[in-house]
Amino acid sequence: MNVLVTGGTGTLGRHVLPRLVAAGCRVRVLTRTARPDADGVRHLTGDLVAGTGPDGALDGIDTVLHLAGGPKGDDVAARNLAAAMARAGGVRHVVMVSVIGADRMPLGWFRAKRDAELAIGGCGVPWTVLRAAQFHDLVLDVAGKVGRLPLLPAPGGLRFEPVDARDVADRLVALTLGGAPAGLVPDLAGPRDYAFADLVRSALGRNRPALPVPLAGKVGRAYRNQENLAGAGAMRGTRTWEAFLAERQKLAFSR
Ligand SMILES: NC(=O)c1ccc[n+]([C@@H]2O[C@H](COP(=O)([O-])OP(=O)(O)OC[C@H]3O[C@@H](n4cnc5c(N)ncnc54)[C@H](OP(=O)(O)O)[C@@H]3O)[C@@H](O)[C@H]2O)c1
Repeated sequence: MNVLVTGGTGTLGRHVLPRLVAAGCRVRVLTRTARPDADGVRHLTGDLVAGTGPDGALDGIDTVLHLAGGPKGDDVAARNLAAAMARAGGVRHVVMVSVIGADRMPLGWFRAKRDAELAIGGCGVPWTVLRAAQFHDLVLDVAGKVGRLPLLPAPGGLRFEPVDARDVADRLVALTLGGAPAGLVPDLAGPRDYAFADLVRSALGRNRPALPVPLAGKVGRAYRNQENLAGAGAMRGTRTWEAFLAERQKLAFSR
């Protein structure tokens, strides 16, 4: 299998690449920054939002794993990738990661993800889309920032079910190697859900006085209605938030 991975240099992509290489795939990564080829992976330079680079990167590619994403422009990036795949003609399967609630959450980033799903789903290449919950790494990052505040904001009703990026990588690679385009597959969330404040406290490793904050407006209502969480029928990762934190602490102590 000749696979182009967009976002192969990111948190998720770094788990995906060795799994594809181990499975015998020839792997190419599209990145905005030139990098040397390494560990069986060829790097090509391009920017999906600017629309530069995807055409050449698709030469000889039969499968695309679209993981690239950022705070803005995921819809534009997907449209550019979709157009490039339609021009290339040889891609038989595109697998994309999206976010749980893409079709429900009234926030720009979620809407862009939904538009990206529609662009990929409408480009004529058989597709698979996996919506995932927030990764442990992202939650840890946010907790680190929130933890610097004098009081811990505790928005009522705000819950997350973080998932380990390795579990998402396992699932995406299985969907890719499985070969058969599957459309929108069941959501993938972590093993359980947590109040936001509890996630921050556990990441900090100490209790903090909390400041209850109301969740206002339609975004608040969507979070209170748990539109960001996976519903019945979702798949669950096996690696827990607690195990992830323990690994990170062990790593920090060993340095
Ligand atoms: N993090 C989460 O909690 C979460 C949850 C659900 C879904 N997702 C989705 O999962 C995907 C991977 O997330 P992640 O946390 O691994 O992201 P990340 O660590 O922030 O990495 C982003 C990746 O996207 C690439 N990228 C960004 N803009 C690009 C552009 N204009 N052109 C080409 N490549 C571009 C980056 O490549 P270079 O920097 O090398 O160019 C990098 O490899 C994203 O689509 C994200 O939206 C994430």
